[in-house]
Amino acid sequence: MENELVLEYINKKFDDGSLILKDINLRLQPGTKLSVLGPSGSGKTTLLRLIAGLENPDSGTILFNGQPMNDCPAHKRNFGMMFQEFALFPHLNVFNNIAFGLKMKGMDKAGIASRVKEMLSLTGLEGFGTRHIDDLSGGERQRVALARTLAPQPGLLMLDEPLSSLDRILRKRLLKELTDIISELNITTIFVTHDHEEAFAAGDMIIIMKQGEIEQKGTPDELVQTPKNEWVKEFLGL
Ligand SMILES: Nc1ncnc2c1ncn2[C@@H]1O[C@H](COP(=O)(O)OP(=O)(O)OP(=O)(O)O)[C@@H](O)[C@H]1O
Ligand SMILES: [Mg+2]
Repeated sequence: MENELVLEYINKKFDDGSLILKDINLRLQPGTKLSVLGPSGSGKTTLLRLIAGLENPDSGTILFNGQPMNDCPAHKRNFGMMFQEFALFPHLNVFNNIAFGLKMKGMDKAGIASRVKEMLSLTGLEGFGTRHIDDLSGGERQRVALARTLAPQPGLLMLDEPLSSLDRILRKRLLKELTDIISELNITTIFVTHDHEEAFAAGDMIIIMKQGEIEQKGTPDELVQTPKNEWVKEFLGL
């Protein structure tokens, strides 16, 4: 199926032999907004890194569009990943930050200019092209990071705790901005967070991770109405 992500029995061990991810099975219909929620150390980032191709599973299969991804290098997967610190290039202006992935893809100048313009408009940053990253607020930086990630039209968008470096008030506002932009797009999205309010706001489907396993999967309503056990209940603050 087009742009469907499937994980089958994914296992990941680290050097000391400890199992970080255990038999992860997941099927994401195209366009799904998935939140991955779990306490620190539960394996959320590792899961994203495996999907992105920055790590390899010890066993199990990752399929995208019906194709096994295990031997496909990260840059060929056409997945977009946004990190906690945004990882913008401080020496480049906003335009060139957003253009970066397009240049890497070998797009011509006119194509780049038009796509960057589209991204500036999508993220409400019209007129910001020549601004320098250092002169932007936290919220503006976040929107540049999102624009840069979306510019190459990734088939899958992954965000790893995209708000956690911001203060609480800003976080709330930006969560709304971010989810508004993403919900406009018909792109499969994985949003990682340890904050249940963020997970509920960002996802139409949620998986709760505990010690490398999916403890429960469901819609926000299902999780609230039928938490699987006391641990889930407590973790969700119910
Ligand atoms: N390269 C590595 N080598 C060994 N252990 C690792 C490595 N990367 C992560 N781990 C361990 O794997 C476990 C899961 O880590 P991971 O970063 O995926 O958790 P997380 O859910 O993203 O946590 P957080 O909410 O703190 O970001 C942790 O116990 C971590 O110490
Ligand atoms: Mg993490």
